[in-house]
Amino acid sequence: MDSIQVTGGAALHGTVRIHGAKNDALPILAATAAVRGKFVLRNCPKILDIELTEQILHTLRISTVWDGDTLLVDSTQMQPAEIPNELACQMRASVLFLGALLTSCGRASIPFPGGDWLGFRPVDYHIRAMERLGAQISAETDRIIGSGKLHAGVVELPFPSVGATENLLLSALGADGPVRIIGAAKEPEVSSLAAFLSGCGAQITGIGTSCLTLTPGPLHGTAHEILPDRMETVTYLCAAACAGGEITLTGVRPELSKPVLDALRTAGCELAETEDTLTVRAGGLHAVPPIVTAPYPGFPTDAQPLVTAALLRSDGITVVEERVFGSRFHHIPALLAMGANLETAGQILRIRGVEQLHGADVTVTDLRGGAAMLLAALGAQGESLIRGARILRRGYQDLIPNLCTLGANLREV
Ligand code: UD1
Repeated sequence: MDSIQVTGGAALHGTVRIHGAKNDALPILAATAAVRGKFVLRNCPKILDIELTEQILHTLRISTVWDGDTLLVDSTQMQPAEIPNELACQMRASVLFLGALLTSCGRASIPFPGGDWLGFRPVDYHIRAMERLGAQISAETDRIIGSGKLHAGVVELPFPSVGATENLLLSALGADGPVRIIGAAKEPEVSSLAAFLSGCGAQITGIGTSCLTLTPGPLHGTAHEILPDRMETVTYLCAAACAGGEITLTGVRPELSKPVLDALRTAGCELAETEDTLTVRAGGLHAVPPIVTAPYPGFPTDAQPLVTAALLRSDGITVVEERVFGSRFHHIPALLAMGANLETAGQILRIRGVEQLHGADVTVTDLRGGAAMLLAALGAQGESLIRGARILRRGYQDLIPNLCTLGANLREV
């Protein structure tokens, strides 16, 4: 998939099953390099970032075998190795191999991680916290090299960083006593990683709170079910909001997306939820009170571009404030090219709804920004060409076939 041709205007109808979460599966796969054992990971998504992570695992002699949507991982024969640049530079989550390899090998050499450009994305919280717990880390120009095992202690994160919390949990598995993380991220994917590590033999208290304590123990393999993807869920909801129609999502956890569901309801979407399904019916939408992105349980930054797309044709003005990343409006020029009325000032975006959008030739800038372009195109009049759409494969399984099944008029070119 390099480009997607979209003819907008078709309402969506039908049912889609949501896959496992990228941001849950990635740290758990990194964790298999911290623990020698055999793992059964159910509900694993088949997406590009997982393929890349499998390749990193293979360089460490960790095997992976698919059985439907279950990934079987065997790290019993693991051998230390440098993580290759060409793999790590494509993905942010590659930095988690720092903590994982410190635990299993006492040494790690990883390239600076890649991933979406959302402003400068340092890893100083990861490094400083590990150093405070006794690891020696040198961050050279293109690699981070760590050595030494952690000692017991308390670290406080200046911001509840998801990646730093996960990396600390992975490195704490090899510590000589309990490690307490104050100011930890509370995202459901962090709690899922903690539950996975508990299954591997660590003792973890405070799961789901901002104070996590990990007490290391003898480690072994385990089985775990990956959470449903919150952002895939929001993407389909916003697709229906853009194109109109009525769709049902199955295999979801609605309670994990509450701030987004609240915003869509306020905008006029009819949403019905059960424990594991969500049905959305969307017609004309109106503006909503200001949206401010924040760490969980706040409004997720990853949903910001998607909900923006949903509000482009709303009645009125919505203000969006991006507070998690320094630069997360790269998709805005593409939406402007489709006729949207948007203004940015620093971290603030003002959406003034327009009657109609029109098709345009645009290029994907980042995973969620690219998805926002695709959603806007579904609700625009005429044809759009979304270039660079391979990036969407990083985080979405079967996105194009699923949208076609729902009645969207689009094809890969
Ligand atoms: C993860 C998610 C990403 C999501 C983000 C916030 C994965 C693979 N990615 O990214 O989809 O958008 O959480 O929910 O799970 N920061 C620093 N120094 C650090 C670490 C972070 O300054 O050492 C800053 C970042 O630049 C950013 C903020 O903290 O401004 C939040 O980043 P963080 O929570 O770490 O996001 P990621 O783990 O990279």
